[in-house]
Amino acid sequence: MNKEPIILGIESSCDDTAAAISKGTRILSNEVANQEIHQLYGGVVPELASRAHQQNIIPVVDAAIKNANISKSEIDAIAFTKGPGLLGSLLVGSSFSKSFALGMDINLITVNHMQGHILSHFIDTGEETPNFPFLCLTVSGGHTQIVRVESPKDMEVIGTTIDDAAGEAFDKSAKILNLSYPGGPLIDQYAKNGNIHAFEFGKPKVKELNFSFSGLKTSILYKIQAENKKNPHFIDENLEDLCASIQHSIVSILLNKLEKAIKQTGITELAIAGGVSANSYLRNELQKLSKRKKYKLYIPRFEYCTDNAAMIAIAGYFKYLNNDFAKQSEIPSARLYF
Ligand code: KG4
Ligand code: ZN
Repeated sequence: MNKEPIILGIESSCDDTAAAISKGTRILSNEVANQEIHQLYGGVVPELASRAHQQNIIPVVDAAIKNANISKSEIDAIAFTKGPGLLGSLLVGSSFSKSFALGMDINLITVNHMQGHILSHFIDTGEETPNFPFLCLTVSGGHTQIVRVESPKDMEVIGTTIDDAAGEAFDKSAKILNLSYPGGPLIDQYAKNGNIHAFEFGKPKVKELNFSFSGLKTSILYKIQAENKKNPHFIDENLEDLCASIQHSIVSILLNKLEKAIKQTGITELAIAGGVSANSYLRNELQKLSKRKKYKLYIPRFEYCTDNAAMIAIAGYFKYLNNDFAKQSEIPSARLYF
């Protein structure tokens, strides 16, 4: 039997600089350097992100190789995120990867970030992996999609957002509540003790399997502005209820369309992926729904939900098996579709 390939995965599409080493579908190391600088600005500042990637990339790769207990010369291929993402951020990962491939004389592999999120389900964690075809609700800071996954290389987006992404809806709502960036995890935390029915917000009317979150954001903003006029302490006094109600609204929008997709496709193998899949209420509600309707649900481990390079290494592994390699002339793409 051929030896299992060792792949170095590189992720730099937004504000996390990440490197991981995989051997087959096992992850030997998974390193992430978060960029705290953006908290000061209430959102990711693209130019600062590029600079921080430049600073972090060598130390992160170095740590990934050391922690995997391998030597550089054992790496069979390097896989990097080609897009979608911030171009200046993607350029750091792609330039590094191309140089590394050239210097080490190994193959180069490009990975679509969103496909990486989906394929994170095939990381060997000892748990069952989804059977094809399955539906994946891919929810992150930049994307919200329902993807019909036929195989690691055959995926179709059957629903997408027409405006904000689910993660953006969390982060922008959090900003209205004066919470720091990224607000998604904070809303999740405060919502734990809140009443999901305390406040009602506008529901979107979007066709087919598409999503919309911008109306919800406006509805939250108007509510807060009106209440703040009557009581300047409104947010502080109602923070937990506000977070629970906002979270409930976002999750209901997601689940509503997912259920519609299940009905339309007849597929009941379900998976979630992307940063928002770390949300505890979404996980719980999906678990309850799946139990009730006898769907099969796959939820990734927390460390593989938010941006990471393990998912890029695994997606790279599948391309490696198909001899699907990239050229040195490859360039990243801020808007990359599949
Ligand atoms: O996939 P990801 O790490 O980066 C992108 O590719 O965008 O997703 C980041 C998004 C952010 O919007 C963040 O607020 C959201 O995921 N997020 C959460 C939670 N953890 C991360 N949203 C809600 N609840 C969470 N626990
Ligand atoms: Zn992501």
